[in-house]
Amino acid sequence: MKINGLELKNGLILAPMAGITDAAFRKICFDYGADFTVSEMVSAKAVCYGDKKTDSLARLENGEGKHTSLQIFGSESEFMAKAAAELLKYEPAAIDINMGCPVPKCVKSGEGSALMKNPKLCAEIVKAVVGAVNVPVSVKIRAGFDSKSINAVEVATAVEQAGVSFIAVHGRTREQMYSGKADLAVIKAVKEAVNVPVIANGDVVDGESALRALAETGADALMLGRGALGRPWIFAEVAAVLEGKAYTELSDEEKCATAKLHLKRLVEIKGEDVAILEARKHIAWYSKGRKNSAFLRNRINLATGFIEMNSLINEVFGL
Ligand SMILES: Cc1cc2nc3c(=O)[nH]c(=O)nc-3n(C[C@H](O)[C@H](O)[C@H](O)COP(=O)(O)O)c2cc1C
Repeated sequence: MKINGLELKNGLILAPMAGITDAAFRKICFDYGADFTVSEMVSAKAVCYGDKKTDSLARLENGEGKHTSLQIFGSESEFMAKAAAELLKYEPAAIDINMGCPVPKCVKSGEGSALMKNPKLCAEIVKAVVGAVNVPVSVKIRAGFDSKSINAVEVATAVEQAGVSFIAVHGRTREQMYSGKADLAVIKAVKEAVNVPVIANGDVVDGESALRALAETGADALMLGRGALGRPWIFAEVAAVLEGKAYTELSDEEKCATAKLHLKRLVEIKGEDVAILEARKHIAWYSKGRKNSAFLRNRINLATGFIEMNSLINEVFGL
């Protein structure tokens, strides 16, 4: 599958995750072989009103725009088109439209997953955005809004006609939020209904689940979200399995070095105070399942400086 002339090698894409998939985390995932990443979601209205926070969310570091799309959310096609055009200054490879966010704040304003209740509006937004930019436009949808309205195929068909270049499908409804299992059959149905590439998303956490998702959906690529939290090396693991190669688990030293590099990059990009606050959740994820992790997590959540957090990382990995 190609995005803006870029041929994906292994078809492994880091899913957009608000508060998580910033430039520091994206770089770590690229280091482990992610082919493509998506930014945290950015409000179209905030972009149009020149909100300062937008720049820190949308800025793409060190040429990563070649492999990264910027995701916008909103419900009004004019704002969405204007915001998409404005974001081109960051040189993203594509613009992604969020049609899956389940949080009440989004849904109450008719944004994110609420858009799926109105396939005509989804198509209108896509058409407006496609008309405003010279890069591919993608959408990220869910299976539907709730179990009584599984309409991913209808929405996918509508946005394809409106000019979308590829479609990511998270196989859950808004109602499910992140619980239950992603429904691979819905993703398969979308793949069979459209001609544009389809990206399967939901519950890919290792090589086995990746192989299953590809086999059961026929998707062109895979998008990984929570499986990468505290385990960015999952991209190397899954890539090896997809290529039929043996994968050797990283040593604790290598994992520790990765967590430290992640922390260092967060500090470089955001400054120490913000970085340490944001690093707390990441370092807690790196500690998951390790010895003394509950005790260490309490200390991680109280850490206030780089030196303290760096030495806690050593403790996490018993080094
Ligand atoms: C903390 C968190 C934040 C998320 N933020 C976004 C977002 O900004 N935009 C979006 O389209 N999806 C967002 N998602 C959904 C993920 O992109 C993905 O669809 C979902 O987690 C299912 O994939 P997974 O099972 O691999 O995690 C978020 C998910 C999580 C857990």
